[in-house]
Formats: sequence, structure tokens, C-alpha cells
Amino acid sequence: MDKPVSDANFRLMALGFKFRDRSLQRRKVLEEVDIKPGSYILDYGCGPGSYSLAAAEMVGKSGKVYALDIHPLAIEMVRDKASRKGLANLVAIHSDCATGLPDESIDVAFLYDIFHELSSPDKILAELHRVLRPDGVLSVNDHHLAEPEILAGVTGTGLFRLLGKGKWVYNFTKGGAKGGHDAER
Ligand SMILES: C[S@@+](CC[C@H](N)C(=O)[O-])C[C@H]1O[C@@H](n2cnc3c(N)ncnc32)[C@H](O)[C@@H]1O
Repeated sequence: MDKPVSDANFRLMALGFKFRDRSLQRRKVLEEVDIKPGSYILDYGCGPGSYSLAAAEMVGKSGKVYALDIHPLAIEMVRDKASRKGLANLVAIHSDCATGLPDESIDVAFLYDIFHELSSPDKILAELHRVLRPDGVLSVNDHHLAEPEILAGVTGTGLFRLLGKGKWVYNFTKGGAKGGHDAER
């Protein structure tokens, strides 16, 4: 299975994301996803928490964000940032695949800038499929991969079909029609 990068590399990535997030607020990206007050979100591969924190503000007190990462520093950083911002609706999970969440409990799962790193993407897609509600959304982006690689990678399992794409993300829902393009969300 996957291994966390060194602490030094993780800190370097976190610094890079500070600049990335200055040029484009993560909230702008999340506007392409159906996130409502009260939504339950899983940010799989949360890193230093750019998307988790933005989502925690968007879902409000009645919602919840689970921020999961394989790297202990990610968990430390995301917990620290949430506590400094007073976001009590964010829960950090340290894992390399299993979420420990109940079946069909999540409205939206993020898989942002991580797909290219996964050694067993199908196992992780199966776990995300398990925890998503029947009408839940899997939202994916990965600037390391071309569109056909993302579409084939996610729909090739037969677990998800494409709902629509925005400028920044591809949104999928549960369903077996491989590569279907039948609805915008
Ligand atoms: C490039 S970062 C993206 C972070 C965040 N999604 C973002 O876009 O701001 C990828 C993250 O995925 C995590 N990661 C890699 N493999 C993982 C796995 N199997 N399970 C959970 N997290 C993983 C890494 O530790 C890293 O924090």
C-alpha cells in the first residue's frame, strides 16, 4: 500500500499550497460541487486541509467534514487549523484506505490531487462507494492526469459514472454505466 512522504516533503508541499490557495481560493473550486449547509463531506487525502477547512465553513454547524490522510503531519495541521478557526465540525482521520465511517453516510467525497499517487485506487474507490449515500457525489481533480485518465480511472471500476464537469472538478455519482455523461449536477 501507499507510504507517507517524508516530513520535509510534506512541509514543502504545504508551503506550495499556501501560494496555490492565494492564487485561487479553494472555496471557488468547491462552488462546482453540490455542498449545502448540513452536508456530510469526506476529504480523502486532505493534505494540510485547504479543502477541508473551506468545506467545514460551507457546511456549517449542522454539517460535518471528515479530513482523512495517510500522513501524521496532515492530521496535526488540519486539527490545529480547525481548532484555531473554531471549526468543531471537522474530524481528522489517519488512514491509508479504510475510513471507519458507516455505510451511506457521506453526501460528497473529495478526491483532489491524489489519484495519481494511489497504488491501489480501486480499493479506495470501493471504500468511497461504500460510504457515499445513493445520490452522493464523488468529486475528483488531478492536474497530474489528463481527462481520459481521470475518467477511465474512476469509471473503470464500474462503481461510478460521470455526472458532469466544471472548470476545476469532475463530479461522479454511484452507478455502473461506465463513462456515462447523462446528467449535470
Ligand atoms: C498532493 S496532496 C493533495 C492534498 C489536498 N487534497 C489538496 O489538494 O490540497 C495528496 C495527499 O494525499 C495523501 N495520500 C497519499 N496516499 C494516500 C492514501 N493511500 N490514503 C490517504 N491519503 C493519502 C498525501 O499524504 C497527501 O497529503
